[in-house]
Amino acid sequence: MSKSSCKTAILISGSGSNLQSFIDRADSGEIDLDLCVVFSNKPDAYGLIRAENAGVATACIGHCDYPDREEFDRAVAARLDDWQPELLILAGFMRILSPWFVDHYEGKVLNIHPALLPAYPGLDTHQRVLSAGETWHGSTVHFVTEELDGGPRILQGRLAVNPGETADALCARVQAIEHQIYPEAANWFGQGRLEFNDGNAWLDGKLLEEPVVSNF
Ligand code: GRF
Repeated sequence: MSKSSCKTAILISGSGSNLQSFIDRADSGEIDLDLCVVFSNKPDAYGLIRAENAGVATACIGHCDYPDREEFDRAVAARLDDWQPELLILAGFMRILSPWFVDHYEGKVLNIHPALLPAYPGLDTHQRVLSAGETWHGSTVHFVTEELDGGPRILQGRLAVNPGETADALCARVQAIEHQIYPEAANWFGQGRLEFNDGNAWLDGKLLEEPVVSNF
């Protein structure tokens, strides 16, 4: 099955450099995704300015106004559903999602995590990788499930850690990879090549037991 111009919502909390990579690739026609709305839980997120500059609709709801996680998530979904998104891209959206939200959009939410999952879930990945003396690092695109950073993995970009490299330098190199692999994996979804079924990721009709790996 092939779909075209998949209606895509991008959720951010900050700078939005990954968002920018989607905007640039959609503009150039490299990916066939209809970026219908950029949502932020923070009104001062720079990504909102990137969206406005690109003529993409924006929405913002602050989480502090809600008594609990699920109430906030229900408000977010009520807003997002105005656009009837077929795909949600978490791009630096610094919120843990409630089970209700994950279920509401089951199989339609992608995240990118700056580590070679299942290694190094959670925060501060670059420094943890350096402190452990790892030789490889990278980033992983995965489907979102209730398990934090634990959903089926789709695509990984890997790089060799340089001797003496700082966490900031490593972060910059990982982000440059993210800007390539995230739009690519999302485009697979938009093309109908990538699906979530029975709790697994499927690409071109085949179960992805391991993610696709690109070395950079
Ligand atoms: C990225 O490094 C991504 O791996 C993580 O959050 C960061 C977002 O950066 N989930 P940006 O806002 O896209 O620049």
